[in-house]
Amino acid sequence: MKGLILSGGKGTRLYPLTYTRAKQLIPVANKPVLIRVIEAIREAGVEEIGIVVGQTAEEIKNTLGDGSAWNAKLRYIPQESPDGLAHAVKISRDFLGDDPFVMFLGDNVIEGGIAGLIRDFDMNEWNCQIVLKQVDNPSAYGVAEMQPNGSIKALVEKPAHPPSNLALVGIYMFDRHIFEAVNAIQPSGRGEYEITDAIQWLIEHGYSVFPHVHDGWWIDTGKPTDMLEANSHVLEEIQPAIAESAEIDANSTVDSRVTLQAGARIINSIVRGPTIIGKATVIENSYIGPFTSVYHHCQVRNCQIERSIILENSRISDIDQTLRDSLIGRNVRVQRSDGKPSGIKMNLGDHGTLWV
Ligand code: G1P
Repeated sequence: MKGLILSGGKGTRLYPLTYTRAKQLIPVANKPVLIRVIEAIREAGVEEIGIVVGQTAEEIKNTLGDGSAWNAKLRYIPQESPDGLAHAVKISRDFLGDDPFVMFLGDNVIEGGIAGLIRDFDMNEWNCQIVLKQVDNPSAYGVAEMQPNGSIKALVEKPAHPPSNLALVGIYMFDRHIFEAVNAIQPSGRGEYEITDAIQWLIEHGYSVFPHVHDGWWIDTGKPTDMLEANSHVLEEIQPAIAESAEIDANSTVDSRVTLQAGARIINSIVRGPTIIGKATVIENSYIGPFTSVYHHCQVRNCQIERSIILENSRISDIDQTLRDSLIGRNVRVQRSDGKPSGIKMNLGDHGTLWV
């Protein structure tokens, strides 16, 4: 069994954060989503992993290196243009050979990992296994239409009138027959070789495609609200830990469900879990509420923050209102201005949003 992680794409719905960073490298609970994907694949016992990369290849290579940090053997596979998920499979043929493989979209986060799915695929004679999840907005995804006996009748990509509320999760298992399918299909209306169409081809040509309906949570971290939701779920799952070098002064209260990473300092503050405070980050005279991740080398002073993600090297100080449901990038300054004339001053990046 091999792994194939798709890590191209521009992440336009996460602008401005993704102007300067690959969307798969935005952290959830202080760990990039892409690293969570690698860990999930390794946990399932898969060692050889191909990473399909696009414009952000350099940044991804710099972060993952040769994969030895996860005891994985990584191979980078460049995709010259974003021609679709089935195209990514096509160009990975040399790496994959005739081995069965699990394909995982590098921006998907799923509860409970994939070890069970891979075990099921190993033990059965299926040509493909897909993962389905009931969602409220099926039109945003690939959607499965089912037969009364629980098998798949058809798969459609982002239908205007979805035949069910079962979305295709970005985790798929295939044997070598998928190469026949990806070579047979034509680009879709949006100009991409769709994996949904390739799986539909397998069904039409008599190959077995098993649908596993996932009953835990699943997030495709395409938008800021998805990142915040994934962050809340993952924070609830992780085992809290206080690093030895972290400091909590006598005037602070830190919940049992809080993780403090190396060198984090909590001074005269309240930290409610589940929350994670990153390496060398200082929280002073502040309240950090539940479901918040503050990444490394940040400074938060005289503030209240709830259900937010703050990326590295940012400084937030002296804000009267509670900051909530916020996604704040790297090296950002948020501070009070007492100068006259009074008013809100901003220096916002392209595609940024400010709610006042
Ligand atoms: C892709 C697939 C879609 C699937 C989704 C899951 O969509 O085409 O079928 O439901 O991933 O994350 P995209 O993220 O390319 O819009």
